[in-house]
This record gives sequence, C-alpha cells and structure tokens, in this order.
Amino acid sequence: MSQIIGEVKKQIEKRRTFAIISHPDAGKTTLTEKFLLYGGAINQAGSVKGKATAKHAVSDWMEIEKERGISVTSSVLQFSYGGYCINILDTPGHQDFSEDTYRTLMAADSAVMVIDASKGVEAQTRKLFKVCTMRHIPIFTFINKMDREAMDTFELLDDIETELGIATCPVNWPIGSGKEFRGVYDRTGEKVELFSDTRKGTIQGEVKKVPLSDPELCGLISDSQRKKLEEEIELLDGAGAEFDQELVSKGELSPVFFGSALTNFGVETFLQHFLQMTTFPLPRMSDKGWINPMEEEAFSAFVFKIQANMNRAHRDRIAFMRICSGAFEAGMEVYHMQGGRKVRLSQPQQLMASERKMIEKAYGGDIIGVFDPGIFSIGDTLTTAGDRFSYEGIPTFAPEHFARVRQVDTMKRKQFIKGINQIAQEGAIQIFQEFNTGMEEIIVGVVGVLQFDVLKYRLENEYNVEIRMDNLPYEYIRWIDNTDIDVGKIIGTSDMKRVKDLKERPLLLFVNEWSIRMTQERNDGLVLTEFAR
Ligand code: G4P
Repeated sequence: MSQIIGEVKKQIEKRRTFAIISHPDAGKTTLTEKFLLYGGAINQAGSVKGKATAKHAVSDWMEIEKERGISVTSSVLQFSYGGYCINILDTPGHQDFSEDTYRTLMAADSAVMVIDASKGVEAQTRKLFKVCTMRHIPIFTFINKMDREAMDTFELLDDIETELGIATCPVNWPIGSGKEFRGVYDRTGEKVELFSDTRKGTIQGEVKKVPLSDPELCGLISDSQRKKLEEEIELLDGAGAEFDQELVSKGELSPVFFGSALTNFGVETFLQHFLQMTTFPLPRMSDKGWINPMEEEAFSAFVFKIQANMNRAHRDRIAFMRICSGAFEAGMEVYHMQGGRKVRLSQPQQLMASERKMIEKAYGGDIIGVFDPGIFSIGDTLTTAGDRFSYEGIPTFAPEHFARVRQVDTMKRKQFIKGINQIAQEGAIQIFQEFNTGMEEIIVGVVGVLQFDVLKYRLENEYNVEIRMDNLPYEYIRWIDNTDIDVGKIIGTSDMKRVKDLKERPLLLFVNEWSIRMTQERNDGLVLTEFAR
C-alpha cells in the first residue's frame, strides 16, 4: 500500500491521544490542569474542574453532576505543546464509573496512570488497568503528591508490579517526601532536579538541575538523604528493569515518574519524556486487516461513546468518534458501515477545556463529537474509503450491579420501554429479561452503581416516567457460549439466575465466584464467558 503524504501525514504524526486513569482523588484533574497550562489551553489552573467552586468545565450537562460535584461523563481535551497536538481523554473520576470509562480507553493510544504516593495502587486503578493490558497499550505511571508523606519508593514500585503485573522502570527517583521532599534524581541526565514549593498554579520555571557530584548539592539536600539516594540508585541500577522502548510500546514495561501535580513539580518533565516515548496513532484492526493511518488516505473512524441530551435546551444526541485515518472536514459525507448508507456528519465539535466548539477539520488521532439523529451505535465504523471496512467491535463489559426495574404508573409502559431501550442503546446500561417470561420483568445491569441514578433521573426527566428499582444481589454475569445447550436444564446453585439479553442470548447471574465454579463443575462441557461475543 502507498504511503500518505503532505499535510495529513504531518498532522497525524503530531497527534498523541491518551487517557488518564486513576483512583478518585489521586490528582488526575490537577495533573490535567497543569498539562493544559503548558499547552496554553487555559490561563488559570482550576478551570478544568473546581469542586469547591462548582465550576464544571466540560460536562455540566446533568443535574446529578452538579448535585454531587462529580463528573459523570468522560470528556476530551485538546492542546498543543512542543509541536505536538495532544488529545487527553478524561475518564470519570468518581468511583462509580460506567462502561463509558472502559470504552474511552478503547479510543486511546496510551494511558497515564496517576497514583497517590501515600496510597499505592487502589481499586479503580486496578479495574481500568485491566482494560489497558487487554489492549496492550503503553502505560505511563505518574506517582503524585510527593509533597506529602509517601510510601517507601521501592514498596510503591513493588505494589505496581505485583498488583498490576507490569514491570516498572523509574525514569526519575524521589529524594524524600512530604516536608523532606527535595526533588527527583533524573537517572539518564544523572542530575538532581530540585523542588521548590513556590509555583502553585503557574508554569514551572527553570528547574534547577545539579549533578550528584556537585558540591553545591550539600547545602540543598541533607547528607543522609544524599547517602540514601546513592544507595537506592545503586540498588536500582543493579536490580531494576532497564528502560526498553519496545517493551514500553507493548505495554509490558511502565516508565515511572515522581512529582507533585499541585505544586507543579515534575509535570513538564513527565510531559516531555512521555511525548518522546509514545508514538503517533498506530494501525487498528478491521475486518480487512490492519488499517494504518500512515498508509490509508481515506477518512475512517469508529464510534466509542454516545451521549444524549448534553445540551438540555436542544435535546441533542452526540456520537463521539475516534478518527483512525485520514482527515475530517465539517459537513463531509461518509459511509456508515452498520447503517449501510452515506451520511453527512453535521455539527462536528470538539470539547475544549472549557467549552464545546465547532470544528472545521480534524485528523487521525482526534476525537470529534457529531450530531446523531439516532442512527449510530457504539462500535460503528464510518469511512470514505472506496474499499470499505469495519473496525473491530468494542467488547461489552460485564456489568457488576443488577436491579429489577419497573414503572410506577402502569399506564406509562410504552414510554418506559422506549426510554429504557434508548438509554441501553447508548450503552449506559444493559438490559436483561427473565429467561422464560415475556417483557414484563426488566433487569438492568450496570458497571457502576451511579448509572442507576442516571437511569432514574433520565427516565423521569426525559421520558416522564417514574420508576421503582429493587436491587438484586448478583455481581457476576456469564454468557453461555455453548449453542447446543438446554439452558433450562443447567444445574446451578440455588442463587443462580437465568436471564437473556436483548439479542436473546442466554446468560447466568451469580452472587459469587464460588457459585460460578460449582455450576461449571456440575455441568460438564458448559462454557461460560465474561464478554459477549
Ligand atoms: P482526581 O481528579 O484524581 O479525583 O483528584 P484531584 O486532582 O481533584 O485532586 C484531589 C485532591 O488532591 C485535591 O484536593 C487536590 O488539590 C489534591 N492534590 C492533587 N495533586 C496533589 C499534589 O501533588 N499534592 C498535594 N498535596 N495535593 C494534591 P482537595 O482538597 O480534595 O480539593 P481542592 O479543594 O484542592 O480542589
């Protein structure tokens, strides 16, 4: 295949598209703010999300968000830095996250994992991390809050390695923490970068870099700190994993950085290394093989998120797509593979730090939101290629919380079914039915419990239907892979429940993993899977 040339190539080569993952409160928002500051995309730190000031930047589209001061939806931020065009995919920072969070990771080329230095790996990081490893994307670690008392550095690395099963390679090494935090030692430059807590909210000035052998350092770090650093570096050089770009690119080795997002220490250093260690958008798999943005001239994109009623005044529905190859121009006509016809992509927009803005052009690596008249589904492909292709689908992630849902007013059955089906189509929830009965009972499954509130709120506000929800004790769902099986005859545990999904596929719900094992033992040849195929 030929190579693409000219402006499109130049633009795609500049693109870096990554997601930030972290457990709530680790400092993801603060770090994002500082990134944007470097890009000049915002003038003032604090405009991405000010919890205290309730100044929600991008996604203040739902009352729930305002009430709780959290960000339910994921957003995309774009900025330029050092000749690069950077797209940050933000994932909801609340512990109740949805499938959207997982799907956002499907649109990223790499991930930045923010870890609180005093806490190590936390629950949500673990979950999100699983999706990154499934995709083999590079993962970078930023260990934050070094200006506070931190865990032992080796312990932190050990935690990442054992909890997440990925090797680590510290690019720099902290000197003390909390009140004793003096900065980091840059392992390649063999210099100490000194910390000063005077730059809150502003761009990091010149960081003072002093070689370890420089006598000047004596006055700056204590003798014991210096001795400890020398010992630790020696230990690290001897026993730690060496930097290996190939392993980083495959997601098998995570470069680790230390810093303090709040005081803006180590953020620019991180950004600079990150940009060097990541690549421009890489090929993606389709039913016609790999589509390489450096070879494929035509525009192609896939939908990874659909969001309704972002703007309540307009009752709009936006399909977010990740452009994988070529260039996008406002109003262009593209072929919608799943719909089997051409569509004009109207009202293209990009979400900037503080506003949505209309765009004229976008390139491979970028994320755009287009007006969706209700024709798109998650995973759909759009392209202008003559030889059409569809990108690999986005897996359906297993819900972990279930509830029986019914409308309070029986006369509103029609609106209820319509609303719940539309919301399910957006992918915010999954709906199931009892295996043997008709449409009467609806069971809703969600990845994060917050989605239950979102469902209730949206049915009331958008469809005028009040609902009742009864939580169910199930936490595990398994699809049945066998086609030649009588589901009614499966011998399960007493707490197992048979249901079917919208595509009439049979599934089993379980309360715990023990029940899954028992059921498998009792039914020879039964194949249960975590993802719908
Ligand atoms: P999140 O998006 O991952 O949930 O975390 P966020 O950035 O909102 O940070 C959570 C809290 O941690 C915030 O404090 C923030 O100021 C603080 N923080 C972030 N990075 C650092 C750091 O490097 N050092 C220290 N000491 N603190 C940090 P808050 O009091 O909860 O909110 P706020 O009132 O400051 O906004």
